[in-house]
Amino acid sequence: MLNDKGFDLWAYDYDKCVGISDDDGTYPFAGYKTVLNEIFNRVLRASAKTVLDIGFGTGVLTAKLYDYGCIVWGQDFSGRMIELAQRKMPNAKLFRGDFSKGLAEPLTHQKYDAIIATYSLHHLTDAKKLPFIENLLSLLNTGGSIYIADVAFDTRASLEKCKAESGDEWDDDEMYFVYDELKESFPNMKFEQMSCCAGLLSLQK
Ligand SMILES: C[S@@+](CC[C@H](N)C(=O)[O-])C[C@H]1O[C@@H](n2cnc3c(N)ncnc32)[C@H](O)[C@@H]1O
Repeated sequence: MLNDKGFDLWAYDYDKCVGISDDDGTYPFAGYKTVLNEIFNRVLRASAKTVLDIGFGTGVLTAKLYDYGCIVWGQDFSGRMIELAQRKMPNAKLFRGDFSKGLAEPLTHQKYDAIIATYSLHHLTDAKKLPFIENLLSLLNTGGSIYIADVAFDTRASLEKCKAESGDEWDDDEMYFVYDELKESFPNMKFEQMSCCAGLLSLQK
């Protein structure tokens, strides 16, 4: 699994690499643009003003929301990613920090209309995902939504099928979402499969 230095090195090529995997329709990024567009449309439709992006990377999604007038807050641990995203969103409040150790303190003093995490939370173990999402729920304004887009599946069997089909490409270090295993803790969570490997998990408050 990549650490902050690994993401620093990947930062300048990131958009291109993701685009190639998405265009090929292959794991891990098949459906990437579709699912990000879907979140973009839902956030705007809900007239969300304040948006928190966890692991925003180069800011592909939040920079578009920023251009549409959203107030963007975010956390990432890669200095390079922050640099690239900040260039696109000069007034966004972007903090450096490892989310496996929690959110940067200033982010916990705000409430948000939308909280987004795209292709980032698979860096958390399943045990850490639950309290992390609980904490995000506490930071939502009433009527707000959490959108988690990632490599994600309805059941463990679907994950195993994708893993078998992906062969050596499959990254065993990443811990992907399995909806069946989360919904007991979050009965209101919704899941939509957006491609062979992309899933959208959403929660409303
Ligand atoms: C695959 S990229 C996704 C970027 C963006 N959200 C997107 O959809 O294109 C994962 C991002 O999460 C960040 N990240 C991964 N693990 C992290 C951690 N433990 N703490 C903070 N940021 C992390 C990386 O630096 C990177 O920018």
